[in-house]
Amino acid sequence: MKRTHTCGELNKKNLGEVVILNGWVERIRDLGGIKFLLLRDRYGFTQVVIDPDKNKDLYKKANKIGNEYTLEVSGTVRARPDEAINNNMTTGEIEILAEDFIILSESENPPIYINTEEDEASEDLRLKYRYLDLRRKKIQKNIILRHEVAQVMREYLNNLNFIEVETPILGKTTPEGARDFLVPSRTRKGNFYALPQSPQLYKQLLMVAGFDRYYQIVKCFRDEDFRADRQPEFTQLDLEMSFVDQEDIFKLIEGLFKNIFEKVLSSEINTPFERMTYNDAITNYGSDKPDLRYGMKFEDLTDYFNFSTISFIKSALEEKEKITGFIVKNLSENYSRKKIDEFTEFFKSLGMSGLLWIKGGNNIKSSILKVCPEEVKKIVKDFSISENDILFMGIGKGYGYYKKLGRLRDKVIKDNCLTAEGYDIHWITDFPMFSYDEEEKRYKAEHHAFTMPDLADLENCFPDEIDKIKSTSYDLVLNGFELASGSVRIHRRDIQNKIFKIIGINDEEANEKFGYLLEAFKYGPPPHAGIAIGVDRLIAIFANANSIRDVIAFPKVASGADLMTGAPNEPSDDQLNELGIKK
Ligand code: AMO
Repeated sequence: MKRTHTCGELNKKNLGEVVILNGWVERIRDLGGIKFLLLRDRYGFTQVVIDPDKNKDLYKKANKIGNEYTLEVSGTVRARPDEAINNNMTTGEIEILAEDFIILSESENPPIYINTEEDEASEDLRLKYRYLDLRRKKIQKNIILRHEVAQVMREYLNNLNFIEVETPILGKTTPEGARDFLVPSRTRKGNFYALPQSPQLYKQLLMVAGFDRYYQIVKCFRDEDFRADRQPEFTQLDLEMSFVDQEDIFKLIEGLFKNIFEKVLSSEINTPFERMTYNDAITNYGSDKPDLRYGMKFEDLTDYFNFSTISFIKSALEEKEKITGFIVKNLSENYSRKKIDEFTEFFKSLGMSGLLWIKGGNNIKSSILKVCPEEVKKIVKDFSISENDILFMGIGKGYGYYKKLGRLRDKVIKDNCLTAEGYDIHWITDFPMFSYDEEEKRYKAEHHAFTMPDLADLENCFPDEIDKIKSTSYDLVLNGFELASGSVRIHRRDIQNKIFKIIGINDEEANEKFGYLLEAFKYGPPPHAGIAIGVDRLIAIFANANSIRDVIAFPKVASGADLMTGAPNEPSDDQLNELGIKK
């Protein structure tokens, strides 16, 4: 006997048909001497009825069935009585009157609840029994969504002449700059492979090889600290194109998103996406990945205080510092004095001297009402700050200052549990090419060392104003997450050498790390550009998941462990000996 249907497809059109279903017992109830089983598979649920009046022996046999048993059920499709119709189920109008069933396998009492939308068990327990957790519709839906998005990605790119090429996992260090995972070599003792942080250099070599349009849905490995949106192994949709510029990449990705929205989410997204320069993102929102759905754009309020005689304001303005603020609208009672003090402490913990605030309305309250009453009143009036709003202000200058204000903005969003509907997607462009690493006392490439700088900037600002050199890299931001990153690449030797020089990589180091790429670039590399989308992050946002763990079939926890398999674990002495590694 083979199943004739899945558990998600029968409806009134099938009335009277004799069918066979396979599935797991989601729930079993005995109501008024009749057994009702809810049979589950990947496709849905179907109610099965075992009625002693119709088949006494079968009813008796059914006493053995428990939750999560795997069954084969044969029976006839019949209509449910009107009062039992369940419009929330696709099969809710029918049920199967069982004529026979076979227990294909039994189940012990599962250690986690499966028939629940809520994450009732702890995450550690759920991950230990991930194969059971994956039976839960909520998690299963995410994995299926992931599959659907991947298929649209492939279809879209295949239609545009892209080809999927696999690149090595056992390789050499790549230029993303996180910590590598190393794999010891048995045949060349003392040597290690590095797992790729991305296929960056291979995809550039594929362009040198003339493949023109490459993509890959690929695992990347980075030994980084964990966050809700970071895993040590994660997936990118990685792609690269020859003879293109930034505009071509933007158009391609916007088209891809249009397709994903239409085909997977059955909705629309407007293109082209908005663009914001890095400078605007930082000075207006304090972040290079702002979520614009929450508003709270920074206002430059410095001019209100130009004539202030208050010493800390006066001296700040003499230092060319700015007074910048943002308004949180429609306060909840969360914004008591205690809450404001908490925000102040948070702001101070970032190294700021203090947080200024104004609450509006008829009964204005402010941390500076006593010392700056006129300025405060004018700000309240000009920005229509009501008693339900609060304006937070900081004083400082430079990107570092704006970023701290941005962290306060993020905290307001998080602490006040503000929620926003829909999708905010935009490009961030014109990133600085370099950032100065205070610890290492040297410049580092913001994106990576193979990113093309703005050539006019390089000409004008080298070597005295390195900070002002912008790059041709870009990020795609979705709902406040950095979703994708890419750049136009350097294909000219002279520029590459200059970049290496700025970031303090000498010829020897460049050759040691990336010699094969530099060698390849001697042989007619085409101009090329690319991007990589974080697939886990994308799916997590679509699935409204709190963590990318919820959209990865077998994820790791914060310690880097896989709780199900127990990895990482100690190798045996024999394995270590073979690798020439001492304990
Ligand atoms: P980048 O390092 O910015 O660029 O990575 C691209 C995207 O990958 C995702 N991502 C991650 N997702 C989950 N866990 C992680 N640990 C993690 N790290 C990164 C993010 C990010 O935007 N080779 C370049 C791309 C290029 O230039 O073409 C690169 O890897 O969504």
